[in-house]
Amino acid sequence: MKPLRTNVSSLRGTIEVPGDKSISHRAVMFGAIANGTTTISNFLAGEDCLSTIDCFRKLGVSITQNGSEVVVEGKGISGLQEPTEILNVGNSGTTTRLLLGILAGCSFHACLIGDESIAKRPMARVTNPLREMGAKIDGREHGNYTPLSIRGGNLQAIRYTSPVASAQVKSAILLAGLMADGTTTVIEPHKSRDHTERMLKAFGGEVVVDGLTVSVTGKQQLTGADIDVPGDISSAAFFLVAGAIVPNSEITLKNVGLNPTRTGIIDVLKQMGADIAIENVRNEESEPMGDITVRTSELKGIEIGGELIPRLIDEIPIIALLATQAEGTTVIKDASELRVKETDRIATVVSELSQLGADIEATEDGMRIRGKTKLKANHMVVDSYGDHRIGMMLAVAACITEGELTLNRSEAIAVSYPSFFEHLQLLIK
Ligand code: S3P
Repeated sequence: MKPLRTNVSSLRGTIEVPGDKSISHRAVMFGAIANGTTTISNFLAGEDCLSTIDCFRKLGVSITQNGSEVVVEGKGISGLQEPTEILNVGNSGTTTRLLLGILAGCSFHACLIGDESIAKRPMARVTNPLREMGAKIDGREHGNYTPLSIRGGNLQAIRYTSPVASAQVKSAILLAGLMADGTTTVIEPHKSRDHTERMLKAFGGEVVVDGLTVSVTGKQQLTGADIDVPGDISSAAFFLVAGAIVPNSEITLKNVGLNPTRTGIIDVLKQMGADIAIENVRNEESEPMGDITVRTSELKGIEIGGELIPRLIDEIPIIALLATQAEGTTVIKDASELRVKETDRIATVVSELSQLGADIEATEDGMRIRGKTKLKANHMVVDSYGDHRIGMMLAVAACITEGELTLNRSEAIAVSYPSFFEHLQLLIK
């Protein structure tokens, strides 16, 4: 239980959010299956990425981690070892699904477990295509839920049309494709984040991208690389919204990742009328990054759906809060994927923001929010439900709430942003 700072009068200053979670996971994974040494700087030392390191150590990979500096001694594309222990993925969906893709290509047996939340998240979306490629997978409810066991090897390439725009599904199949005979192709309904494709190139691999179609040829050799991880735009999002809705605020966020498959939050802030500026954009070839400044803004409601959704899927909880401070109605649709995240984020966002007096209702595939509402709490307890992004959204909501508010299960925030409360404290004036 953590008491939250409420009714904040101003947020001002400059911070650097920690490294990108998606890129940190991938840097360890690619490092493990490459030849030679990979050095990662600005690695996100949050619980999810530490789960990835732990799993790869159990697969025989030597990894040294010193805060945000990580060195991975690669084993090569077929050098991982059969683990003697169960691989524990913790709370991390990315670890589970991408690791399954890699294990599908390894001719040994492994078992995966995770926490209570992971046990509810659907895995058939990766286990089915990986079985089609030749992996033997079993698990609870025919391999849809953890615990899972897998015996990989002897994979055949597939051409897979994914029913969901999911980078985890796409990446799992592409990683398996790297170890398969032939060329593996994934076709998505909308473009999802493309960090796997970009990182494959950084490790000397070949990948062909043609619109929504991505192909890799199997049995490629990858070479260890130096990866400098940009700040996580999904973590920055909490302060971008905080800067826009807390009075008298001006926040600059340095070195934030600006990969176009992730910048939906910036498009939404601009469309809603936020005062936001981006400077010093660099690294456009690999993973673009830049500095973002946001100031207190007059906002208006908008409609969010379609191809924009995968570009901001993790930001929807904080966008819901933003919408409570915008004049008019905001509609979020085509986002039923929210129901299978760390929590059912449609249910958890609506329940917690309603308690604070927001005018918000759940729909089957999103939510409808009417603003602008003054949020109020009378010695109230809100809950992260063990979901890091719900916890951070509620801590930002507290900044504009009158009254006293306590957050239950605040420790979940360490999954992606261990220094979140220190950064918030630095900005409160
Ligand atoms: C991620 C992909 C997204 C995202 C998750 C990280 C990744 O999930 O929500 O936080 O690193 O590939 P989906 O692939 O399920 O959309």
